[in-house]
Amino acid sequence: MERILANDIGERHAGKSVLVSGWVSDIRDLGGLKFLILKDRSGTIQITMPKKEMTKEIMETAEQITKESVISAEGKVQGAKQAPRGVEIIPEKLQLISKAQAPIPLDLSGKIKSDLSVRLDYRFLDLRNPKSLAIFKIRSKMFKLITDFYDSQGFTAIQTPKITSAGVESGAELFPVVYFDKEAFLSQSPQIYKQMMVCAGFERVYEIAPVFRAEKSHTTRHLTEFTGVDFEMGFIRGENDVMDVIEGMCRYILEGLKKECAPEFEMFGVNPTIPKKIPRIEMSEIKKILAEKYGKKIPEDEDLDAEGEEFVGKYIKEKYNEEFVFVTAYPWKKRPFYHMRPEGKADLTKSFDLIWNGVEIATGAQREHRYEILKQQAKEKGVDLDAMKSYADIFKYGAPPHGGVGLGLDRMVEQLLKLDNVREAILLPRDPERLTP
Ligand code: 4AD
Ligand code: MG
Repeated sequence: MERILANDIGERHAGKSVLVSGWVSDIRDLGGLKFLILKDRSGTIQITMPKKEMTKEIMETAEQITKESVISAEGKVQGAKQAPRGVEIIPEKLQLISKAQAPIPLDLSGKIKSDLSVRLDYRFLDLRNPKSLAIFKIRSKMFKLITDFYDSQGFTAIQTPKITSAGVESGAELFPVVYFDKEAFLSQSPQIYKQMMVCAGFERVYEIAPVFRAEKSHTTRHLTEFTGVDFEMGFIRGENDVMDVIEGMCRYILEGLKKECAPEFEMFGVNPTIPKKIPRIEMSEIKKILAEKYGKKIPEDEDLDAEGEEFVGKYIKEKYNEEFVFVTAYPWKKRPFYHMRPEGKADLTKSFDLIWNGVEIATGAQREHRYEILKQQAKEKGVDLDAMKSYADIFKYGAPPHGGVGLGLDRMVEQLLKLDNVREAILLPRDPERLTP
């Protein structure tokens, strides 16, 4: 007999035989009756055993079954008002395929809150909890919506090397790699390559891929390996064109998820606001607001810290009833050499951060595409552009004005579901302490 999924069994199957396979998520014994709740990728179904009507063989097998064991059951479906989905299976055959050891190192019912580090040590078991699994169902939908969005906007998907000889990000540390007799690093961003591909003639490219950062940050938002959603586009008029694209992406994702993930959103008690128009506010203005409204003073050339971002999120919600905000015109001192500066304002950059519910989820900018100016800017930052020949060359043979964004997918999921920690949003997190599983 062919296997049927739990969620596909309905009243129309009443009186018919079916075969189900899956994990046993619950076992109940009520004297004359024994119940098994079988869970598969679709949902759950109740297997009911009136002990007197069962063969000796079935009851012997049933007694062996522990929680989370993998079983198969074949039997007739019957309507059952008390059963979770209005139907149950009365088994005629029962097979214990793989017995789970007891006790399970985690409580999977969601009743007892396990420590995040224990959950991550046994992530494959943690994911048997429907709420943990739902995060990754949503993440998977989000991934598809992102690719659909960029595809619809004329972007080409690219895959660039993750073993590199150098990077262009300021401050971000590089993981060294033993690469035969050469010095190499894990890529800290596809920045160089996405700019290269714009100039190659794709004009518009995007990449969703791992990004590595050797930062010893022990926060709820930093990982050493995360999934970057990067795009880069040519022939822009300014950074506002770049912001328009990432704003469109956020709107598209949220509209899609609201349609496709309503039950999952309910599980997490979230109902994100689809942005009408994301406010774009200059950093200098934001600093004034933070000082006046929250007494939070940030020096002229400094970036917002976590608390600053939180206040910005609060302010935007109150004033505009929006969850997103672009903080624009970042100080030159805080940005890498490749960010373009506005005409006549050498202390600023044509760059921005996108903050969602008080956390930075993306950074973007118009890039400097004029070779001589780029070389000068690199020099100001103590970078020798000519030593980075393959980057420098991009600007020598026809480079259009361009810009792009890097967004952290894990942080986006964290903010969407209002998770306490970015580690919950990634299957198997990597941080300064965690290298397994
Ligand atoms: O702000 P970042 O460092 O910007 C760049 O990588 C530029 N190349 C982007 C550009 O196109 N100008 O990283 C981009 C995003 C951040 O906004 C954040 O969401 C995420 O990547 N991110 C991290 N996520 C988790 N753990 C970390 N350690 C992260 N570092 C950055
Ligand atoms: Mg940033």
